[in-house]
Amino acid sequence: MSKVTFRYLSQEDILALNIPYEDVLDAVEKAMAKFSQGLCQLPVKVHVNSRPGTYVNAMPAYIGGEDEAQGMKWIAGYPANRTKGLPVTWGLMVMNNCETGGVEAIMDGRWITAIRTAAVAAVTAKYCKPKNTEAITIIGAGEQGRSNARLMKIVIPELKRIYIGDLYEAAIDSYLKKMRPLMPDVEFIPFYTEEERQKAIDDSQILITATQRSDKPIIFCEMLHKGMLGIPLESTAWEGKTYTRFADRFVCDDVNLVNAYLADGKYTDGLPEELLTLGDIINGKVKGRGSEEEFVITSSHGIAISDVAVGQMILKKAEEKGIGTILPLMEEADIIR
Ligand SMILES: NC(=O)c1ccc[n+]([C@@H]2O[C@H](COP(=O)([O-])OP(=O)(O)OC[C@H]3O[C@@H](n4cnc5c(N)ncnc54)[C@H](O)[C@@H]3O)[C@@H](O)[C@H]2O)c1
Repeated sequence: MSKVTFRYLSQEDILALNIPYEDVLDAVEKAMAKFSQGLCQLPVKVHVNSRPGTYVNAMPAYIGGEDEAQGMKWIAGYPANRTKGLPVTWGLMVMNNCETGGVEAIMDGRWITAIRTAAVAAVTAKYCKPKNTEAITIIGAGEQGRSNARLMKIVIPELKRIYIGDLYEAAIDSYLKKMRPLMPDVEFIPFYTEEERQKAIDDSQILITATQRSDKPIIFCEMLHKGMLGIPLESTAWEGKTYTRFADRFVCDDVNLVNAYLADGKYTDGLPEELLTLGDIINGKVKGRGSEEEFVITSSHGIAISDVAVGQMILKKAEEKGIGTILPLMEEADIIR
């Protein structure tokens, strides 16, 4: 047996690749389309929970067709980490060769998670937003609050205003300091009170909640208006009735996953009868929006199809540019001593 190696890519290696967000959007959209064509394998993710309110998820997927790929993300979510100066969401991505199963790469999973989640939301917005989307309200000025703003502007060039709120003024301050120079053609407007938050929602065509898991919802039907797209990144942040009584259209990344969360009690008022998927919308099987008056709600819990698609893209770019560290996995065929 010849020496077996794999490529190791740290977060900084991935950043050094300078991957355009357009490429991530493209990879995610194509993968979602393949999923809808029945070309993928996606077992429902499994988890362990070492502390209340935390998780470490195992997320495998296979993407078939042209440019096939397979891999698994092993990703932790520990909300209290923010008080320890550590990332809330972090972990690893493993990419496996489709012919041999051999490990081709191990890479940081934090960047992939942050960007692919925003990419799924942005692709959803591309197909489900009302025509003239000039303003978005984002609640939660963390990692997702930032990445969603960046990717939304790419799919919605007409976007003019982003309202931003958070439980902590310091989080809003650092958000504005970071985002205003990055996106000078968008006006960032902070809100601090409930009244200001309501005015922001009233003016917005898209509402994104990028808060952490909580026992209580923060969005209620009476806060919403028709003709919007609602994007709860954490489904429990929205009152159960927003899904069943207020929304006219429900769009998710994976029906099996949504049903698993339903069984887990994550949708307190149940779910609408018709569950549409982003992949079917991309493929033109169903419409992302029926009229300008509809309220469309999307509930994507995050699927490994998007992680594997982005992982594959990162691996190809790293191979082309010679970025990363080649590490040995094994050399000898005979291992019994
Ligand atoms: N669906 C997916 O695929 C997916 C993937 C990654 C993260 N997420 C979810 O996205 C959410 C945000 O993740 P993140 O990495 O940005 O976390 P983060 O900790 O970086 O940011 C969350 C921000 O929300 C603020 N916040 C919390 N509760 C709030 C409230 N009630 N009102 C206003 N602000 C509040 C916090 O102060 C913090 O600044 C999490 O719930 C996470 O589970 C979903």
